[in-house]
Amino acid sequence: MGEFVVRGGRRLEGTLRVHGAKNAALPIMAAAVLASAPVTLEGVPKLRDVDVMIEVLRALGAKVQWVDRTLVIDPSGIHQYVIPAELMMKMRASIFVIGPLLAKFGHAVAMQPGGCSIGDRPIDIHIYGFRQIGADVTETEQGTRLDAVNLTGGAVHLSYPSVGATENLMMAAALIPGETRIRNAAMEPEIVDLAQFLEKLGATIRGAGTPDIRIVGRRELHGATHSVIPDRIEAATFILAASATGGHVVLENCIIEHLPGLVGRLRDLGVEIREGEGDRIEVNAPQAYRTMPVSLHTGPYPGFATDMQAQFMAFLLKVPGVHIISERVFENRLGHARELRRMGAQVMADQRVALIYGGHALHGATVRALDLRAGAALVIAGLTADGQTVITEREVIERGYEDLDARLNTLGADIDRR
Ligand code: UD1
Repeated sequence: MGEFVVRGGRRLEGTLRVHGAKNAALPIMAAAVLASAPVTLEGVPKLRDVDVMIEVLRALGAKVQWVDRTLVIDPSGIHQYVIPAELMMKMRASIFVIGPLLAKFGHAVAMQPGGCSIGDRPIDIHIYGFRQIGADVTETEQGTRLDAVNLTGGAVHLSYPSVGATENLMMAAALIPGETRIRNAAMEPEIVDLAQFLEKLGATIRGAGTPDIRIVGRRELHGATHSVIPDRIEAATFILAASATGGHVVLENCIIEHLPGLVGRLRDLGVEIREGEGDRIEVNAPQAYRTMPVSLHTGPYPGFATDMQAQFMAFLLKVPGVHIISERVFENRLGHARELRRMGAQVMADQRVALIYGGHALHGATVRALDLRAGAALVIAGLTADGQTVITEREVIERGYEDLDARLNTLGADIDRR
């Protein structure tokens, strides 16, 4: 496993372009299984998780190729409906393919994704939804098997607005000619992007972005060209890195409306965030933050995104005062507090709540990227710390950030990889 070596104390300054969203690209790539002709996707980030999804699609029989930064998926050769177990183990998001496989072939088999560092992450809500629209679900030696001779659609009320379950059901429903209605659906921008893609394939979708989505599918879906939305989590990471280092950064390809909760809080603390022409935003950190306690909890969109929580904690360490972060989406996603403590951070955390004493200096240390966003938080902390921070398990960070070191270095950071 590789490392990032960060030498802190530099102020970030300059312009950076935000890449396409990983969490929009992965389900849209899976949805390509539904089409009967090639799908062309623009703005797909070149990431480890995207590589795994490409492996999944190829294992099923699709032809997938990069043409410059465009991904072309030809699903016409797909004949397999068993997702290889080793790919399921590599990436939980492989589960996105089961909805499309079920709808297309009437069958799908996938090993249940195991627990991961941020919690158990079961797929019971996905399974419940598939049953509601007409699938039989059995446990076999190969894993969970879904069968459906004739999917009917119908109404599904999710017990929790799971992003993955909403997406899986939308994808399956796109091939069902009747209406499928998803209540208590997730409302994330990535759901809206998936809906727009499915509409390009030929489905009719109303209400994406609200808790009540209605999908009327078709027996055959055609190919399409689509450009994925900008990555709001990557944008948030750069905004927080700029703010934490007292920097002044312009981000291109950044949709400010996708950052509710973050922008308001940063402005309250004195960070200037201005919208410019054509999805540009300018972030200008103050000389000194306003001293005020920050209290937030994560939640489904439009709540504060759990995927920004770790990076926000790293930023809050710079803000004088006592702050509280409560993690309510995943049951064990505050492990970065322990790593930050190795850098001198004054933060206490149990599995759900962290108490942060901000405004104290950090020093370099050797720390571990426990998960993707926790790793990004350590990079931000390293940028603000005195001396050198070594972040091990660099590859975990690279699951979700393309060229993070090189791109931060264009803003004046000092990061090496080894
Ligand atoms: C997606 C994102 C991930 C983000 C998360 C929450 C992708 C590829 N990943 O993950 O980055 O952190 O949304 O915004 O888009 N749950 C169940 N049963 C289920 C499904 C989920 O109990 O069947 C629980 C999970 O364990 C978790 C919570 O619901 O505690 C949220 O999960 P979900 O919204 O499904 O997240 P993902 O789609 O896995």
